[in-house]
Amino acid sequence: MNYIGSKQKLLPFLKDSIKQVVGEDLSEKIFCDMFAGTGVVGKDFKNEVKKVISNDLEYYAYVLNRNYIQNTEGIEGKKEYIQVLNSLHVKEDGFIYENYSQKSGRTYFSNFNAQKIDTIRVKIEELKQTKCISEDCYFFLLASLLESCDKVANTASIYSAFLKDLKKAAQQEMLLEGACFETSQNTHEVYNEDSNKLISKIEGDILYLDPPYNIRQYGSNYHILNTIALYDKFIPQGKTGIREYHRSNYCKTKVVHQSFEELLKNANFQYIFLSYSDEGFMSASDIKNIMKKYGKYELLKTDYRRFASHQKHTKNSTCEFLHVIEKKL
Ligand SMILES: C[S@@+](CC[C@H](N)C(=O)[O-])C[C@H]1O[C@@H](n2cnc3c(N)ncnc32)[C@H](O)[C@@H]1O
Repeated sequence: MNYIGSKQKLLPFLKDSIKQVVGEDLSEKIFCDMFAGTGVVGKDFKNEVKKVISNDLEYYAYVLNRNYIQNTEGIEGKKEYIQVLNSLHVKEDGFIYENYSQKSGRTYFSNFNAQKIDTIRVKIEELKQTKCISEDCYFFLLASLLESCDKVANTASIYSAFLKDLKKAAQQEMLLEGACFETSQNTHEVYNEDSNKLISKIEGDILYLDPPYNIRQYGSNYHILNTIALYDKFIPQGKTGIREYHRSNYCKTKVVHQSFEELLKNANFQYIFLSYSDEGFMSASDIKNIMKKYGKYELLKTDYRRFASHQKHTKNSTCEFLHVIEKKL
């Protein structure tokens, strides 16, 4: 998924840096990905650590992580479920079709894809209600639907606006594909809470923080994914059909410093790593001043090109910082 702030391209840097600080062998460590988003960071550590604790405020992110991180055993018949869902007779009504298709005037999906999303979403719920599938399978199928519908969404990449005309990818029929996860010998936990509330209830060794760093609220930019994941009834508002959404303190310039400090203060983790852009609300020196109150501080950085570019230090390149403390517990 093309996700704002995704750490997909930074995974080697993160893994190397974390090992450099904590040590090569992470097999007895509990690793928490507190602002997990698409789950790529937790996935990368899932089979190297004793336990991943993954969390995100947004429900769609919970669904993705519940599948990618908490699912540990193969799901019987998963290929068959995907096949059955793909070949259902597509019904000509449903919430997504009524509100987020060409027909509704909010062209997030082609009419057919919107109907197919509704048909599949209803069936997944029915399979769960009739106890035909396990909870693990339910989240595997829901995550598969979110990943697959994102590929045919008629947007520039996020859901804060739709395109007027159907782009090429959006004209294709949505094909439901399985959101494959790695099996694991260990158990992992996934939460859907505000980081600052969850922090007092958990403990571990490595806390990885990747909060938003500007005004862009994820609940607003990915509202359609929440709507498909939750599939509840509400009155869509305005041109984009937005729903009520969480307003994270990390997207508010006035309270971000205080929230960040509170998070560090209440963290029961020995090593804390923070990814933060040099274009964020908190400056590198603000972060250093806050973090060094709680332990031995270090700064690691890498030059990170947001878009494919062969020129160094162009406008398209930004410096990604990894701030580290070893906390005095
Ligand atoms: C920069 S993104 C994380 C990206 C993620 N590391 C990835 O690679 O996909 C920030 C995430 O923080 C989540 N978030 C924002 N405020 C939060 C809060 N107070 N508690 C928990 N999660 C929050 C957002 O929903 C978003 O998914």
